[in-house]
Amino acid sequence: MGNSSALPKKVKIIEVGPRDGLQNEKTFVDNAIKIALIDQLSLAGFANIETAAFVSPKWVPQMAGSDIVMSGIERKPGTIYSVLVPNMQGLEKALESKADEIVIFGAASEAFSQKNINCSIKESIARFIPVAKLAKDRGVRVRGSISCTLGCPYEGDIHPDKVVEVVQRMADLGVDEIDIADTIGVGTPNKVKSVFEAVSRIFPIERLSGHFHDTYGQSLANIYAAMEVGVSIFHSSVAGLGGCPYAKGATGNVATEDVLYLMAGLGIETGIDFERVARSGEFISQSLGRINGSRAGKAFLSKLTT
Ligand code: HMG
Ligand code: MG
Repeated sequence: MGNSSALPKKVKIIEVGPRDGLQNEKTFVDNAIKIALIDQLSLAGFANIETAAFVSPKWVPQMAGSDIVMSGIERKPGTIYSVLVPNMQGLEKALESKADEIVIFGAASEAFSQKNINCSIKESIARFIPVAKLAKDRGVRVRGSISCTLGCPYEGDIHPDKVVEVVQRMADLGVDEIDIADTIGVGTPNKVKSVFEAVSRIFPIERLSGHFHDTYGQSLANIYAAMEVGVSIFHSSVAGLGGCPYAKGATGNVATEDVLYLMAGLGIETGIDFERVARSGEFISQSLGRINGSRAGKAFLSKLTT
């Protein structure tokens, strides 16, 4: 089968495992392991890796040591290393660590905003204004992430209008890219299309990304649906690591290996070495004592050993 004309020829995959994947691990993961994982992912060819989070260590203890991680990694020229930043305190650390991109993160749900960053949506935007401005002045890229765009663990359904409102506010801050996140993985393809169609009326589709957690097993279908409406940036997590500390029961992002397998089958270019990612998925799963959460990764590796 050839490449369908409705689908993009090329996609950007942002690897979020070292941040979104690891942040929910109960036991502290050694900085050396985090660094080794990121270095392996850099070699696999990702253009963008979400590496760390300069958030309060009281809120997310696993991300303490983000400065050590950022100074310990071997940076591949041209790769964007991104860090989460909730406020000015976080931005200062991000600038010191020479992050290439900061990610400010809000929500389309009031309740989730309170639980995750301890303020209302309106307050979060006000907090982000000086953060985005200073980052831009220093030549650092700014990405905006919006949680609960397809449903909220506290409020249930979220209307696309609510997502559009937050996208508009992020756009007003001058962000380079906006992530439409399904924090608890409840979205299904038609809903995904509706949300992207709604937000792309006010923000360019080429700068919108899909960040899908795979709790209900819908991520690959959702990625395909999003590509059909023109989305070409997706987030994924090696070995399907992860979860959100403020979304009980939510599992990790869609596994990177599974996304790469899908793209290869569709003839869509990613620029990423599948085998290296599969091996790093096994490395981190074994380091954490977890079962590898990637179906494609496991299938590929099992063929190598038989
Ligand atoms: P707060 O308690 O309201 O803040 O938390 P505060 O300003 O009162 O500070 C409280 C303490 O934290 C103080 O320390 C500050 O110094 C310290 P104390 O004086 O008590 O010793 N503090 C910091 N320390 C280090 N770095 C900082 C920082 N800021 C304050 N940047 C705050 C508000 C936003 C800080 C807190 O709620 C927080 O850090 N939240 C982060 C939560 C988080 O990281 N969640 C997971 C990431 S988001 C996600 O996973 C979703 C995403 O994947 C998309 C999706 O799937 O939906 C992106
Ligand atoms: Mg997430």
